[in-house]
Amino acid sequence: MRQFPAALLFFLCLISATSGHNITKILAQFHEFSKFNDYLSRTHLASEINRRTTITVLAVDNAAMDDILAKNYGIYEIKNILSLHILLDYFGAKKLHQITNGTALAATLYQTTGSAPGTSGFVNITDEKGGKVSIGADDNGGVLDASYVKSVKELPYNISVLQVSKILNSPSAEAPAPAPTEQNLTAVMTKKGCKLFADQLTATGAEKTFVDAVSGGLTAFCPTDDIWTKFVPKYKNLSADHKVSLLLFHGVPIYQSMQGLKSNNGPMNTLATDGAASYSVTVQNDGEQVTLKTKAVTAKITGTIIDEDPLAVFSIDKVLQPKELFAGAPAPAPAPEEADSPSPSSAKVAAGPASDSPDDAPADDSANDNGSVTIRGGLLGFVITVLLVVVV
Ligand SMILES: *[C@@H]1O[C@H](CO)[C@@H](O)[C@H](O)[C@H]1NC(C)=O
Ligand SMILES: *[C@@H]1O[C@H](CO)[C@@H](O)[C@H](O)[C@H]1NC(C)=O
Ligand SMILES: *[C@@H]1O[C@H](CO)[C@@H](O)[C@H](O)[C@H]1NC(C)=O
Ligand SMILES: *[C@@H]1O[C@H](CO)[C@@H](O)[C@H](O)[C@H]1NC(C)=O
Ligand SMILES: *[C@@H]1O[C@H](CO)[C@@H](O)[C@H](O)[C@H]1NC(C)=O
Ligand SMILES: *[C@@H]1O[C@H](CO)[C@@H](O)[C@H](O)[C@H]1NC(C)=O
Ligand SMILES: *[C@@H]1O[C@H](CO)[C@@H](O)[C@H](O)[C@H]1NC(C)=O
Repeated sequence: MRQFPAALLFFLCLISATSGHNITKILAQFHEFSKFNDYLSRTHLASEINRRTTITVLAVDNAAMDDILAKNYGIYEIKNILSLHILLDYFGAKKLHQITNGTALAATLYQTTGSAPGTSGFVNITDEKGGKVSIGADDNGGVLDASYVKSVKELPYNISVLQVSKILNSPSAEAPAPAPTEQNLTAVMTKKGCKLFADQLTATGAEKTFVDAVSGGLTAFCPTDDIWTKFVPKYKNLSADHKVSLLLFHGVPIYQSMQGLKSNNGPMNTLATDGAASYSVTVQNDGEQVTLKTKAVTAKITGTIIDEDPLAVFSIDKVLQPKELFAGAPAPAPAPEEADSPSPSSAKVAAGPASDSPDDAPADDSANDNGSVTIRGGLLGFVITVLLVVVV
């Protein structure tokens, strides 16, 4: 009998370990934050918050949201403004008063979106005399216009939700924000370390195929300049047509967020696909790491350059080499774990039909040995076993 509560506690621990936090649910308990909460969902920032840990959300009440909504910003400006209120570090109420030297700059989600110029994506937190904590955007001319009000919810060190007195004033976050469909794709890539790849898109005319795809949804993978430089000898060897095919192979004609890629393992058609199953790339995640596989190479996604439905661009650490152009060629990269002897599971996936719809390529337990699906399944099985033992 004494074992039962312990097992139940264990069960609850396992459930919370697999579910993570949900900002929408946290804020739903407080009516005064309903507008802020609503806009976190509308801008898709809520899912961005949920998939991160060690994060702080600076929430404002409905009256403070009304001030900003009265200015009739578009949804992309509101997204930039609110993303400045999401700090990529954990600040509990206690830590606010223990900042080294009494002042700190915190990086925000705005800084990672690709739209923040210079250091404008940082927030200055200063512990003033008398216990007041002042907060302001770093691009607000040294004026810390908001202050800390109270702690709303703290789950150390996953997520902290703190109320601040008002929306932080930031000229850059409030500047007109182009919709993803109006972004200059090659300019965004260039700004974020993929200049050489972007230059080739322009030089070959492949850019047009990418740009035309954006409105219907586009996920692009760009090798960063250091990666592209190493590939240049091989690239130069390709015919003009094959160069275009290789470049188009780096685009997938649907929008996939990082979360979407993680949960939709399997083959995907690319912009180079012409007819059934040719030029497809296989997405496979190994825990949190998303990889893109072909017969010749396995590339890792290393960062997000832009992720705004319907456009996502991720940086990758290898040039994707379609099997149609590099059949069986062993990857020249020295990294030992990249020796691409295809595992039985990946061979099975690669042999399947290519699909350009996420619904047609559901996460597959067996094809995803180290993926979260399997891990969760394992935990659940374990929990059920424990409960059965207790019941018996
Ligand atoms: C933080 O997240 C981890 C893993 O997602 C979980 O194990 C832990 O219980 C969480 N902590 C809190 C306080 O929720
Ligand atoms: C988060 O909570 C909200 C409200 O309870 C719910 O509608 C939503 O599905 C949850 N999201 C996730 C990812 O669990
Ligand atoms: C705190 O101030 C000292 C002296 O000005 C400086 O050397 C140090 O780098 C500061 N620490 C931080 C974390 O800013
Ligand atoms: C934060 O802003 C205050 C007031 O403008 C300034 O004195 C302080 O140096 C700033 N802190 C940092 C870390 O930049
Ligand atoms: C994108 O910007 C570059 C300069 O950065 C320009 O040459 C190019 O024409 C632009 N492309 C489009 C589609 O506007
Ligand atoms: C270029 O192509 C030739 C002929 O197919 C081949 O021998 C050579 O190894 C290739 N060079 C590179 C760098 O791939
Ligand atoms: C899963 O991870 C283990 C250990 O890291 C590794 O040996 C195994 O090959 C991985 N399996 C797959 C299918 O990636």
